[in-house]
Amino acid sequence: MELKQYTKQQLALRNGQDKVEIWVAWEGNIYDVTKSRLWKNGKHYEHWAGQDLTEELKDAPHTIRVFEKFDIIGKLIK
Ligand code: HEM
Repeated sequence: MELKQYTKQQLALRNGQDKVEIWVAWEGNIYDVTKSRLWKNGKHYEHWAGQDLTEELKDAPHTIRVFEKFDIIGKLIK
């Protein structure tokens, strides 16, 4: 199945403040982290959902493996 494509603006609405869904992008993939306790209200330590956090992940104390339990729900349009 083809993944749906979303713009930055659409992603930005899933920041945990404007809509129920909480999304985070990494390397062009958009992950749904709505169910995560650690992303409540869109905030994760000093980071906000609703954006591409590819660069920020490099400074995190963990790798991309933390996304394994979350579904990729779409692709971010560049
Ligand atoms: C200063 C930066 C950050 C800190 C201190 C931090 C800390 C943590 C900690 C302690 C956990 C739970 C333990 C673990 O799985 O290792 C976690 C989980 C996670 N982090 Fe981060 N993180 C940071 C940045 C990021 C960034 C930039 C992203 C996204 C690109 C991210 C995405 C996630 C996800 C998806 C989880 C899994 C949440 C869950 O299982 O419910 N983190 N983080």
